[in-house]
Amino acid sequence: MSYFNKEEDIILRKEDIKTPIWFKEDADPKYICYCNKVTESQITDAIMNEDAKNMKDIIRITGAMLNGECETKNPLGKCCGPVIQEIIKKTLKNKSKIDNGYIDKK
Ligand code: FES
Repeated sequence: MSYFNKEEDIILRKEDIKTPIWFKEDADPKYICYCNKVTESQITDAIMNEDAKNMKDIIRITGAMLNGECETKNPLGKCCGPVIQEIIKKTLKNKSKIDNGYIDKK
């Protein structure tokens, strides 16, 4: 089950959802910016392979956060910016570990 509304007895199952919800298990593709259909892997790829270092780079390379209609398109009902910022932080940290030889690139 993905969503339900007790008062109106509405249940939406996973197969009823047209666009995978990124924070649900097994979302594929894992959209982070729903307004522009930008996935988590596009963001991490921009950091790992195109030298993106910040939000401005991610917007330029992936097109995330352009043409925002977040209230209606994003399941969170708000902009993807904070989630993208977390991905940037986590990926830059991993990239630094790889660059310094602490972990292997997978
Ligand atoms: S979800 Fe990214 S701009 Fe709306």
